[in-house]
This record gives sequence, C-alpha cells and structure tokens, in this order.
Amino acid sequence: MQGSANLNIMIKAARRAGRSLVKDFREVENLQVSSKGAGDFVSKADIAAEAILKEELMEARPNYGWLGEETGETPGTDPTRRWIVDPLDGTTNFLHGMPHWAISIALEHKGEIVAGVVFDAAKDEMYMAEKGAGAWMNNQRLRVSDRSRMIESVFATGVPFGTQPYLPAALQDLARLMPQVAGVRRWGAASLDLAYVAAGRYDGYWERGLNPWDMAAGIILVKEAGGFVEPILPGADLMGRGGLICGNGAIFDTFSRTIRDRAEA
Ligand code: IPD
Ligand code: CA
Ligand code: CA
Repeated sequence: MQGSANLNIMIKAARRAGRSLVKDFREVENLQVSSKGAGDFVSKADIAAEAILKEELMEARPNYGWLGEETGETPGTDPTRRWIVDPLDGTTNFLHGMPHWAISIALEHKGEIVAGVVFDAAKDEMYMAEKGAGAWMNNQRLRVSDRSRMIESVFATGVPFGTQPYLPAALQDLARLMPQVAGVRRWGAASLDLAYVAAGRYDGYWERGLNPWDMAAGIILVKEAGGFVEPILPGADLMGRGGLICGNGAIFDTFSRTIRDRAEA
C-alpha cells in the first residue's frame, strides 16, 4: 500500500511499540507461574507501549491532539486532528499468554476517522486503511466477505465482563443470533474483531460499551474493505458506548435487524 506520510508515521510507531510488547509477551508465561503473577507486569508493558506511541506520534505531529487509553486526552493546537490510541487491545489475552492482542492507532480529522492501523504484533499482521485508499493487511488488499447466507456466516462479539453493563442485552443478542448462524466468536480484542471483518474472516461483528480507542482504527478498516458500519441504535454516535454493528453488505440487513429488534431494551 502506498500510504500517506501520516500512515507511514502510524506504521512506524506501531512497529516500535510492537517490538516492545512482543518482548514483554514472551516474559508473561514465566511470570504466570511466579507467585506475584503477571498483572503488574502487563500493566507496565501497556503503559510503556503507550509512551512509545505517544513519543513517536506527537514528535512527528506536535500540533495534533491526543486521546490514549492510558494517558487520556490532550488537546492539540490543531483542533481538527487527533490521534486515538489503544496501546494494547486484548489485555486479558496478553495476560493469559494468548497471542491475540493488538495495537490500535487512528487519525481523526474534523470528527471523521481518516486513517487507521491495527497491528497484531504476535502474528506480524499489519492492518492499514486510509480514506479512499482501501484497506490492506501487510501487502494484501482486503475485502469483506461475500457470504450472504446467515447459516454459513461467522460473527464476532464482545460480552461484558466483571461489573460492566449490557449483560442482559448481550445475552439476548446471542440467544437470537446463534440459532441462525454458523458460529459466534468472542476472542477479546475489539480492534482485531473489526480487522477480521475487513479481512473477510468474520462476516459481521457487534459490541456494546466500547470506547473510541477500541474501535476508531477498526471502523475505517471495515469501511475501506467495503463493509457497512453503523451504531446499533440508528442515529446514535458511532463512537459512543451504545454499540456498533458491522458486516458485509450481503448479510448486514438481516444481521442488523436481528440485533436491533431488541436494541431499545
Ligand atoms: C477490550 C477488548 C475486548 C472488548 C472490551 C475492551 P482492552 O479492550 O477490546 O475485546 O470486549 O470491551 O475494553 O481492555 O483489552 O484494551
Ligand atoms: Ca481496548
Ligand atoms: Ca487497552
């Protein structure tokens, strides 16, 4: 992919943070058997990755704003542009030694996501998209799937954990959808769920309660791969916590109707 200067800055930052996280990920297994456990170590790895990303991205574009999961929001002198960053999406997987986590970096311009990078460093899969330039994984162009039969389609979602809200809604979604489809996965990294829809691996994905850093980069990946992305509640803010739903155009109507039929509850 012939990316813009901004996309190249994002890729370089993702690779540097990726090297740091892969090194830490190798340590996690050892730490799990120690009495202290890996929790503290992983939160340090997460914070260190965000520091790398912030240094790379803000040094390259000092006037842009910043929204990062670990360091919060810093307005830029250019109020129209900001980076939206999750340094480690899929923390629970990382903590448990499961290689399904990613770095997510998006660039927002005037409220719209114009570029996104999701880097699955453990598998060396770099997902990239820019407005109007398509979506790519490494050097391969991405297209959403063309499966049109629900019974052959595989979906991803996220279900609430701990004391998070939306549990009744998530359980009702699953009860309605599962009998109609080939499978539903919950792999625990929203940015990769979106990237996998862009890559045609999943046919659709939905989740409530996400934060902007979980979904910003993935949204442009799906759109640029030809998929549909909408808020679960029509008219709501796509990057709000009410939830998003996406999928290929062939199943989107049936899929979104199934989820939305109870979305007001
Ligand atoms: C989480 C993951 C997970 C999703 C949660 C997110 P984190 O992000 O994306 O799949 O279900 O809502 O908070 O905490 O691993 O960065
Ligand atoms: Ca996240
Ligand atoms: Ca995170």
